[in-house]
Amino acid sequence: MKTVLVTGASGQLGRCVQKIAKKEQEIDWLFMDSSKLDISSKTELEKIFKSKHIDYCINCAAYTNVEKAESEKERAFEINAEAVKNLAENCKKHKSVLIHISTDYVFDGEIDRPYNEEDITNPINIYGASKLKGEKYIQETMDQYFIFRTSWLYSEFGHNFYNTILRKAEEKATLNITTAQKGTPTNGNHLAALIVNIIKEENNHFGLYHYSNTGETTWHGFAEEILKALNTRESVSLNQDNSYKTKAARPLFSVLDKTKLKSNFKAEIATWEDAVLELYNTNL
Ligand SMILES: NC(=O)c1ccc[n+]([C@@H]2O[C@H](COP(=O)([O-])OP(=O)(O)OC[C@H]3O[C@@H](n4cnc5c(N)ncnc54)[C@H](OP(=O)(O)O)[C@@H]3O)[C@@H](O)[C@H]2O)c1
Repeated sequence: MKTVLVTGASGQLGRCVQKIAKKEQEIDWLFMDSSKLDISSKTELEKIFKSKHIDYCINCAAYTNVEKAESEKERAFEINAEAVKNLAENCKKHKSVLIHISTDYVFDGEIDRPYNEEDITNPINIYGASKLKGEKYIQETMDQYFIFRTSWLYSEFGHNFYNTILRKAEEKATLNITTAQKGTPTNGNHLAALIVNIIKEENNHFGLYHYSNTGETTWHGFAEEILKALNTRESVSLNQDNSYKTKAARPLFSVLDKTKLKSNFKAEIATWEDAVLELYNTNL
C-alpha cells in the first residue's frame, strides 16, 4: 500500500484531493492541515518523514494571498520557497516523490502565445517570485518531482472566484469585472484527479508541467460562464470594469501551453467552459 502525505490539506486543492481520496482506499492517506504540519518548521517536517515511509508528498500548502504578499514578502518566501526547499530535502532523503503546485504568475505576461515550460520566467509580483524560488529549490535538490504550474484555480471549496460569483449572484449584486487579463480557469477537481492518477499509475515522467483546462478567457468571461451555468445571466448585472487597482501586478496574459503534459500523461483535458458547467452540475 502506498503512503501519500498531503500538506495544506484543508486548503482548496487539499480538499479536492480529500474528496477523491474517499474513493481511493488502496492508498494510505496522511492529510495534514497547517495545524498538524507547518511546512515552514524543519522539526515538524523531519518528524513526519521519520515517522513512516512516505511514497508521495502532495504539497498543497502555500502562501496564496497575492495582494498581502506585497507587504509580507518574508512570510511568502518562507512558505513558498524556504519551506519547499526543506520539503524537497526531506523527500530526497527519504526517497519520496514530491508533487508540487506552482503558478502562471511566474511569467510577466508579455507574450502573445501560450507559455510553455521552456519560456523565460519573470515574475512581476512577490507571490510569483516566491513560487518561482520554490520551483528552483526543488529542481536543484531532487530528480523525482512533479511541478504543476496551474492558473485561476477554482472549486466548490474555499475562497475563489467561482464561489464569489455564486454568492454575488445569489445576492443579485452588480458585478464589475475586469477584462484586462487573459488566462485559463482550472477546475481544482480536475487537477486533483490528474495528481491522484499519477500516483496510482506510478507515472515516472518526472519534471515541470503546465496544467489548466483548455481555452482562454478573461475574468469577465469567466464570470459570464458561471452565471450562464447558474441560469442567472439575465438577472444579474455584469459589467466590464478595468478601473479596479490592485497592489500586486498581474500578468496580462498567462495562458499555459499543455503540449508537454498531454504527451506524457493520458490526460483528457476539458475545456474551461465544460469544466465550469461540470462543477456547477455536480454540486446542485
Ligand atoms: N488559487 C489559485 O488561483 C492558484 C493559481 C495558481 C496556482 N495555485 C497554487 O495551487 C496550490 C493550491 O492553492 P489553493 O488554491 O488550494 O490555496 P489555498 O486554498 O490558499 O490553500 C493553501 C493551504 O496552505 C496552507 N498553509 C499555509 N501556510 C502553511 C504552512 N506554513 N504549513 C502548512 N500549511 C500551510 C493554508 O492553511 P491555513 O489556511 O491554515 O494557513 C491553506 O490550507 C498552491 O501552491 C498555489 O500557489 C493556486
